[in-house]
Amino acid sequence: MAARLAGVLLLLGLAARGPAPAAAAKMKVVEEPNAFGLNNPFLPQTSRLQPKRDPSPVSGPAHLFRLSGKCFSLVESTYKYEFCPFHNVTQHEQTFRWNAYSGILGIWHEWEISNNTFGGMWMRDGDSCRSRSRQSKVELTCGKSNRLAHVSEPSTCVYALTFETPLVCHPHSLLVYPALPPSLQRRWDRAEQDLADELITAQVRCGGNTPPAGRGAARSWRCPPHCLQGYNKLLRALFEDAGYLKTPQESESVPEGGAKVPAFQTLEDCSEAHRQLAKELRRLKSVLTQHGIPHTRPAETSSSEHVDPKTPTDGTAEQLRGDPGLRGNTL
Ligand SMILES: *[C@@H]1O[C@H](CO)[C@@H](O)[C@H](O)[C@H]1NC(C)=O
Ligand SMILES: *[C@@H]1O[C@H](CO)[C@@H](O)[C@H](O)[C@H]1NC(C)=O
Repeated sequence: MAARLAGVLLLLGLAARGPAPAAAAKMKVVEEPNAFGLNNPFLPQTSRLQPKRDPSPVSGPAHLFRLSGKCFSLVESTYKYEFCPFHNVTQHEQTFRWNAYSGILGIWHEWEISNNTFGGMWMRDGDSCRSRSRQSKVELTCGKSNRLAHVSEPSTCVYALTFETPLVCHPHSLLVYPALPPSLQRRWDRAEQDLADELITAQVRCGGNTPPAGRGAARSWRCPPHCLQGYNKLLRALFEDAGYLKTPQESESVPEGGAKVPAFQTLEDCSEAHRQLAKELRRLKSVLTQHGIPHTRPAETSSSEHVDPKTPTDGTAEQLRGDPGLRGNTL
């Protein structure tokens, strides 16, 4: 108790002698004044920094997992930066002032993957920075020893770190494919096969685009860019399933209540959607049958007359298509 009281007295003494609060405004990183004691160097480290969430699970090339749980620091001008791979990036102002700034510049989130290579580690959801959160991208480069080599702030509250390590010196050390479990490697193989088929086979429909008729024309036909987007989507989903990338939050990208327009990028997607629709159709038919509502069997092959809204159809088909007949029913 006595020691604690002494600590408080010491603290008050330092506060009294330290720079006036106005000096805080000059600090590079502090935007809001911190609550007294929140970033207090006399309090244990853990109670000073409040992470917004837990880090993502360790993922990526297995030979990098040994970096987990370690931390590497770099002192640059008046700041000490600390990078804890697969955990966090923090910044600590090197000063004896009572309100020295300590902050979280990012929590391990996901890999950046470019050209099928692990390009860097994204650490996001750091301390608030105006309406956003601080975030850091850590680039891994070959070096003689594990070392945080460089820190910069290319745009406000986005930090770029360079971490040197002998673990990435082999030219294949950051390739994504060898890091994947065999089941996902097979999925990637299939995606490559699909892509190749779309490039060379005339029969394959590609997102509604059919190759032109005629052998020569079909041979020179190239998959339109959105089919490659389909391939990229397959890969993205695969990287998400591997835990390398995080699925973007629906609430952020899709407006409230906004329905996603289905876009079939591959034959596989389209077949799956068709299968689901056929299943739903069977379910609806059975509901109609259950309620003793007569219904006609829709034409399986030629559906053009059902699609064309100008074509007059008999009342039953109209009812089935427009669904008004079921409105009053409890399903
Ligand atoms: C940052 O990561 C290190 C290493 O895993 C951990 O000990 C420390 O508590 C973390 N700091 C914060 C503020 O989460
Ligand atoms: C992509 O990676 C391959 C093989 O790793 C390399 O040969 C090629 O130059 C890279 N391309 C780009 C644009 O970085």
